[in-house]
Amino acid sequence: MALTKQQLKDIETHLVELAAKEVGPIIKEKAGTLFEAFDDKANQVDLVTAVDKKIEAIIKDSLAKQYPDFKFIGEETFQPGDTAIGKEPTFIIDPIDGTTNFIHGYPYSCTSLGLVENGIPVCGVVFNPHLDMMFHASAGNGAFLNGKPIKVTERDLTLQQSILALEAGSERSSGSSGDDNFDIKQATYKNLLSDQGAYIHGSRSCGSAAMNMCFVAAGKLDAYWEGGCWAWDVCAGWSILTEAGGMVVGGNPNEWKVPVDDRCYLAVRGGCTEPMQKKFVENFWSQVAG
Ligand code: IPD
Repeated sequence: MALTKQQLKDIETHLVELAAKEVGPIIKEKAGTLFEAFDDKANQVDLVTAVDKKIEAIIKDSLAKQYPDFKFIGEETFQPGDTAIGKEPTFIIDPIDGTTNFIHGYPYSCTSLGLVENGIPVCGVVFNPHLDMMFHASAGNGAFLNGKPIKVTERDLTLQQSILALEAGSERSSGSSGDDNFDIKQATYKNLLSDQGAYIHGSRSCGSAAMNMCFVAAGKLDAYWEGGCWAWDVCAGWSILTEAGGMVVGGNPNEWKVPVDDRCYLAVRGGCTEPMQKKFVENFWSQVAG
């Protein structure tokens, strides 16, 4: 049986408290202090610290006590093959999203706590303790920034007049055939930015997928595209964005519906009308190289 609106609101409240009281203060205190003490994972720009792992343990423990029947997938503890997202309620969390920012002391690291049910993001909390920004939402209950409702802006949504978040990410290999192929990413940036291509107003980069999605949700950015991030980077932000009136589609052409673990996404704010929003997405897809 699906979780009720009230149950989702209670979970949202629990996640907000966990983020504000237990996780946020650690991120704030330790940001910028670990430059001599980080490790790399898949490659030398895929970074992790002991604090990421410590925070994930705190979150996992708190959620296991409160929701013993829910599944848990976390960035620092997942095992390959163990990431299948089924129908059951599953927390998908990133203890620190924007770990590189965290290590360098750039104030865009946050915790990203999401919940999926039936494969759909239904609750999300993203907290940036440096800027004191708490984004939170659950299905049917609205989306909020620090307790105040947020909605995507609905002004005319043309690709040319947009600013988009684009991330290089930590997958920068040219050889791969996947969504992380760096040549495809670069060609897409060029196609979007150049006066020979879409000639958009500009690109931005928070260095955190969760922050990018929340900024789209709050109408501060028009869209966010990335190939190569993971379900824990986007799950919480996805829930906040859809509850604020935006949408997530695939980052590659003709993917109107994508699973949360797709790894290539386009998150878009609302348009005045649905056809306008669809046109924006199609115009964007036409600029994706490869
Ligand atoms: C990364 C950030 C970054 C995005 C990468 C993610 P992490 O997450 O969200 O902005 O470009 O794709 O992996 O490693 O800081 O948790």
